[in-house]
Amino acid sequence: MENNDIALQEYDLSLRPKRLNEYIGQAAVKEMLNVFITSALARAETLDHVLLYGPPGLGKTTLAHIIANEMNAQIYSVAAPSLDRVGDLVAILTKLNAGDFLFIDEIHRLPRIIEEVLYSAMEDYVVNVVVGKDATANTIKIVLPPFTLVGATTRCGDLTAPLRDRFGIVHQINYYPPEEIAEIIKRTSRVFAFDIDEDAAWEIAKRSRGTPRIANRLFRRVRDFAQFDDPDCQKITWPVTAAALTKLNIDEAGLNETDYRYLMTIIEKFGGGPVGLNALGSAISEDLTTLEDVYEPYLIQEGFIVRTPRGRLATKKAYEHLGIEYAHRLF
Ligand SMILES: Nc1ncnc2c1ncn2[C@@H]1O[C@H](COP(=O)(O)OP(=O)(O)OP(=O)(O)O)[C@@H](O)[C@H]1O
Ligand SMILES: [Mg+2]
Repeated sequence: MENNDIALQEYDLSLRPKRLNEYIGQAAVKEMLNVFITSALARAETLDHVLLYGPPGLGKTTLAHIIANEMNAQIYSVAAPSLDRVGDLVAILTKLNAGDFLFIDEIHRLPRIIEEVLYSAMEDYVVNVVVGKDATANTIKIVLPPFTLVGATTRCGDLTAPLRDRFGIVHQINYYPPEEIAEIIKRTSRVFAFDIDEDAAWEIAKRSRGTPRIANRLFRRVRDFAQFDDPDCQKITWPVTAAALTKLNIDEAGLNETDYRYLMTIIEKFGGGPVGLNALGSAISEDLTTLEDVYEPYLIQEGFIVRTPRGRLATKKAYEHLGIEYAHRLF
């Protein structure tokens, strides 16, 4: 039995972990989820609705699938922006079986009318559908099987309070420390059956912005460089890693060209700030949502910028990182 389990695990080893114990890091989140999942299973109940939020690429979608898997449940996925008619959502909800999971990605982008249908679906497992028009209009109540909604979002603050309040389990997914990213890289190396030296894994980890998706992408790019240099190569070493990351313009803090342009613009064009996002976005011709959701959270977390009511401000650390003298000013 044990041997079978191991064989199965090896067979199942894909880039996206399938079980909670294969999901690296986020220890506090995993511990809580384990309690809720185990208890729900013991009571033979469906799991309460789950909201996962945090920056892109940290493993929200992966975790949603793991939770469903641990509950031995089917999971159906839909992206919020693709739901534009109430009928679309009702069609999905009425197809669910008891205990099924519905994963709604980018849930902060749900159209308002759809969101209102979700309220009763989440709370009472019913939807009220209006059929007909004007005088002949009728409301039909459709009873749904008990199900679990998992919502994922990069912008928890954009969720309306009524929607947020209907999730019984809410977890923030944070940037990973480099030790955990190094573990994820070693796992990726096993999945691809392509070795990596400890110091090389650590080098990629330090430059991955605490983000598994970036770590996996850098692993693949560094492997490209390693195999380009030597087609028979079976292992990523530190010198190849350092050279590849330099060629990819990723510095030792994980900052890339866009981060540099962003910081340089605040410092050189706007005197270090504070500068509003709109002005900054047009000065560097970057999409505002990308700046706000992808670039800024990491720059803030690492202390390169701060967000003030009057706009973004470059910190002393940003000046030092870019090798620019930090002039003391009164803001
Ligand atoms: N804890 C983890 N352990 C191992 N691998 C992970 C972990 N978290 C994420 N990954 C890997 O990182 C990749 C990105 O994760 P995922 O797609 O789940 O992120 P996300 O938070 O849903 O991103 P987005 O906000 O862009 O939808 C996955 O393919 C997975 O391989
Ligand atoms: Mg996702």
